[in-house]
Amino acid sequence: MRVNVTINGESRQADDVWEGESLLYVLRERLGLPGSKNACEQGECGSCTVYLDEVPVCSCLVAAGQVEGREVRTVEGLADGDKLDRVQQSFVDAGAVQCGFCTPGLVVAAHDLLNRVENPADEEIREALAGNLCRCTGYEKILDAVRLAATRGETA
Ligand code: FES
Ligand code: FES
Repeated sequence: MRVNVTINGESRQADDVWEGESLLYVLRERLGLPGSKNACEQGECGSCTVYLDEVPVCSCLVAAGQVEGREVRTVEGLADGDKLDRVQQSFVDAGAVQCGFCTPGLVVAAHDLLNRVENPADEEIREALAGNLCRCTGYEKILDAVRLAATRGETA
């Protein structure tokens, strides 16, 4: 089947999509957007998190056919050209990235949190990121990154 979807503000089409294919697969393998990572493929780790109609979802759990006519925003779509979004930049500046596999999902989840809550308490940050697993950092630097991003104005 053919899937028509708006991705990061652009109309895109994916052809020859089979019915069981995930949005994550379509993004990575058909549309050249490898930012969203495939770690568990069963909704457990959050590394594949993207916005679907402005709501964060695990793209490994979304069937490609479900996104027909809808809007997806991936971690690539948060930056403004070469200029990183404040959450992306704060992950870099806080040293919150080790292997980086979890980072795209954490960035999208933190971006969503800061769109909803201007200055979240640590508990709110932990809760918002509870669905995103990191095997490397011990989470402290990730918390630092989100706190730093919160001091840097509005998300786009
Ligand atoms: S790859 Fe989707 S939740 Fe882990
Ligand atoms: S930096 Fe490696 S899983 Fe988080």
